[in-house]
Amino acid sequence: MSELSVNHLLGIKYINQKDIELIFETADHFKEVINRPIKKVPSLRDITIANLFFENSTRTRLSFELAEKRLSADVVNFSAASSSVKKGETLIDTVNNILAMKVDMVVMRHPNPGAGVFLSKHVGSSIVNAGDGAHEHPTQALLDTYSIRETLGGVAGKKVVIVGDVLHSRVALSNIYALQKQGAEVMVCGPKTLIPKYINELGVKVETNLTKALQWCDVANMLRVQNERMDISYFPSTREYSQQYGVTKSILEKLDKEIVIMHPGPINRGVEITTEVADSEQAIILNQVENGVAIRMAVIYLLASKIK
Ligand code: NCD
Repeated sequence: MSELSVNHLLGIKYINQKDIELIFETADHFKEVINRPIKKVPSLRDITIANLFFENSTRTRLSFELAEKRLSADVVNFSAASSSVKKGETLIDTVNNILAMKVDMVVMRHPNPGAGVFLSKHVGSSIVNAGDGAHEHPTQALLDTYSIRETLGGVAGKKVVIVGDVLHSRVALSNIYALQKQGAEVMVCGPKTLIPKYINELGVKVETNLTKALQWCDVANMLRVQNERMDISYFPSTREYSQQYGVTKSILEKLDKEIVIMHPGPINRGVEITTEVADSEQAIILNQVENGVAIRMAVIYLLASKIK
C-alpha cells in the first residue's frame, strides 16, 4: 500500500507531488463516504487526536473536528486566544501537556510561524499544522487545489491568480507551493505594499492590475485582508482597496471567458468580493468547505496509518 513520505503535515513545502496525489485519491474515497446516509467509518477507533487552537478559527476547527469524528477517532479540544499566549513558554507548556495526555496526533493552529515544526521535534505525536501565523496552512492549500482538480479536471497547466493580502497570508504561501508542485502557473495580484519582497524567489508572476490578472487566469483565489495582522496601514482605505482589488460582477462580465472564483473564508463581503459574486455559479466557495472535510479525513487517515 502507498504511504506518505512524511510523518507530520507541517507544510506543503515538506511534501511531494506523490503525497498530494495520494491525499487526493484518499479524499475521493472519503468524499463518497461523507455523502452516504451513514457518514462514519470505524478506521481510527484506537486513535486519540488533540485539536489545539491558539488562534481564533471557525471553519478550520469545525472541519478538522468533523473529519476526526467521521473517522471515529477520540477527540479532545483546546482553544486559547492568541493574546494570552506568550511564545516559548506556551509551546513548552503545550509539549508537556501533550506528553501527559498521551495523544497520538495533534492538530495545531498557532500564531507563531514554525510552531508545528518545533512541536514535531519535541513530542512523539504526529503533528498537523492547521495554520502557523502568516507561514503555512497546508490543509487549506490541499482542499483548494483538490477543488480546482474537481472543477476543471486537473491542476497541471492551469493558471491561478491569488488576489489580495499575500503578505499576511498563510493560505497564499501554501497555495503557491501546492499549485507549483502540481504543475500550475501562479500569479499574485494586489497592491505593492501587500506583495512580499521575496515573492520573485518563489517563481510566481506579479501583477498589480486586477483586470489584467483576471483576464490571464483560469481561477482567481481571493484572499481576505488580514486586518488583525496589520500594525500599520498598507492601503489608504477599505473603500479604495475594494475599488481596485474587489471582484465585482461587472469586472467578471467584461472578461472574454468565465473564470472560477475561490475564497478560503471568512469572506468580507463587499471588500475583496461582492455578495453577488460570492453567491454566483462561478464561485466554488462552499464546494471548498465540503472538500475540506474529505481532505482532512484523508490527511489524518494517512498520517495515522504511519503511527507505530
Ligand atoms: C484562513 C486562515 O485562517 O488563514 N481561513 C481559514 O483557514 N478558513 C484565511 C483567513 O483567515 O482569511
